[in-house]
Order: sequence, then structure tokens, then C-alpha cells
Amino acid sequence: MTEIRVENLKHVYPNGVVAVNGVNVKISQGEQVSVVGQNGSGKTTLVKHWNGLLKPTDGKVYVGELDSQENSVNVLARTVGYVFQNPNHQIFAASVKDELEFGLKNIGLQKEEIDSRVEYISSEFGLTEFLDINPYRLGFSLRKSVGMASIIAMEPDVIILDEPTTGQDYLGIKAIRGSIKKLREQGKTVIVVSHDMPLVAEDTDRVLVMCDTELIFDGTPSKLFATESILKRTNLLPPQITSFMKKIGRSGSSESILSVSDALDKI
Ligand SMILES: Nc1ncnc2c1ncn2[C@@H]1O[C@H](COP(=O)(O)OP(=O)(O)O)[C@@H](O)[C@H]1O
Ligand SMILES: [Mg+2]
Repeated sequence: MTEIRVENLKHVYPNGVVAVNGVNVKISQGEQVSVVGQNGSGKTTLVKHWNGLLKPTDGKVYVGELDSQENSVNVLARTVGYVFQNPNHQIFAASVKDELEFGLKNIGLQKEEIDSRVEYISSEFGLTEFLDINPYRLGFSLRKSVGMASIIAMEPDVIILDEPTTGQDYLGIKAIRGSIKKLREQGKTVIVVSHDMPLVAEDTDRVLVMCDTELIFDGTPSKLFATESILKRTNLLPPQITSFMKKIGRSGSSESILSVSDALDKI
């Protein structure tokens, strides 16, 4: 069980850019959280603090009992896995198999356990036939699957996916949403940075909205899509079904319809 606790977090990059300012948030084990906001609003900077890839300039981040300032990414990554937005920034091994094994060796698993996890995760992500191939010979979508699979194989309590569906086709998106649902059933905390509003609306229970370094909203997707001021400030477009139900006057003023099946129930 791992709770993430962020107190007054500020992050300033070495070039002086303030990327996150004054953020407070607590995420409990098993929550499904999305992080949304315009490009450059500070989403990636914020979530990279949760496994120690970045350290606070000011404020505190706790991963369970661990103060992120005092623990290396190597230690924190056992509990919180971060899947990079761009797989090219994550993948470095010469074969898919080596990439999948790397983290597992790093956390000290025995060979038998490593073999069985690699076999399972590669079949889950459709990678079995590519195990001996250099990840850089795979297309973007499969390379992204390698990045996701290598983190999920480590079975961390918390999994952060940074824009997992960006650049994916319909089947890729379906597969990713399927894996998110599976992780939820296993009681994992899933944190998704995403511009994919149907995913935000249907697969997460809580949305954090970043705007210009600050956290300006923390609540359910239903409440977010009913809060015009936040939508305007961040240029967020609700899912089409949500807007449609609002336009025909079939959703409340503080709650929204989030999916086609909700809409059908209502009608
Ligand atoms: N390595 C870096 N060095 C300097 N500035 C950065 C770096 N990474 C991001 N930034 C800046 O920090 C701000 C927030 O970026 P980021 O967290 O990547 O936002 P988002 O993920 O919401 O697009 C932006 O102004 C961006 O240009
Ligand atoms: Mg980002």
C-alpha cells in the first residue's frame, strides 16, 4: 500500500523556468487519477517527482513513508513506475527481452521469476514474437508497448503513464485502456497524464488539472466537465457525448454524463 503525498511542491529547472508551483495533493492506493492541462502546464514535471526522477526545489514529496529528497530513483521506482511519454527516452537495451529483463534484474528477482514475468508480460502486450528484436526496429506504437510492459512487469504499487495514447491508433488505444482496467482490478494506483477525454471520463475517478504551474482543480471528471470556468481557462473539451447531453439539457448543473451507456440510462 503506497500513498503519495505532495506538500507545497515547487520545481524550478536549472535554466530558471518555474514548472510547478505550490502544488498540494494526496493520492491513496488504488485510485485512478488523470492529470490534464495544456502543453507546458507542468504535468510531466509534477508526476516525475512521484518516483524521484525529479527532486523538489521546494516543498516535500513522500512516497509511502519515504521522503523523495532522501531516496534515489532506484529505490522509489520499486514502488512507483513511470512510463515515459516518449519511449525513446526510456528504452536503451539492445533487444526487447533485455529491456523487459533490465528492471526485473535491478529489483533483484531470481532468474526463474524473471523468465516467468517476461513470458507473461510479453504475451499480455503482444511482444512475444519480437523478444529478440532491437526495440528501435519496432514501430512507435510497439515501442511504446515495450516501455509500458517493462514498467508493469516490475509490479509497482503505483503506475504513472505519461500520455500513453498519444500517437496510437484505435486498436492501440483500446489495448492501453484495457491494461489500465486490469491494473485497477489488481488494486494498483494508476495515474495517467492524458489529452484523451473519453479515457479521462470513463477510466479515471479523479482529475487533477494543471494550469500554468498550478493545480487548479482536483475532483471527479463529472464535476470537471460541468465546471465551465475551468474548461475555458484550460481549453479542455469534454467528450462529445458529455457536450451533447449538456446541449440537449439532459445533464445536471454540477454533474455530467460521461459515457454513451450513462446517456442511454438517462434517456
Ligand atoms: N528539462 C527542462 N529544462 C527546462 N525547462 C523545462 C524542462 N522540461 C520542461 N521544461 C519547461 O517546464 C514547463 C512545464 O513543462 P512540462 O512539465 O513538460 O509540461 P507538460 O507535461 O504539461 O507539457 C514548460 O515551460 C517547459 O518548457
Ligand atoms: Mg508532458
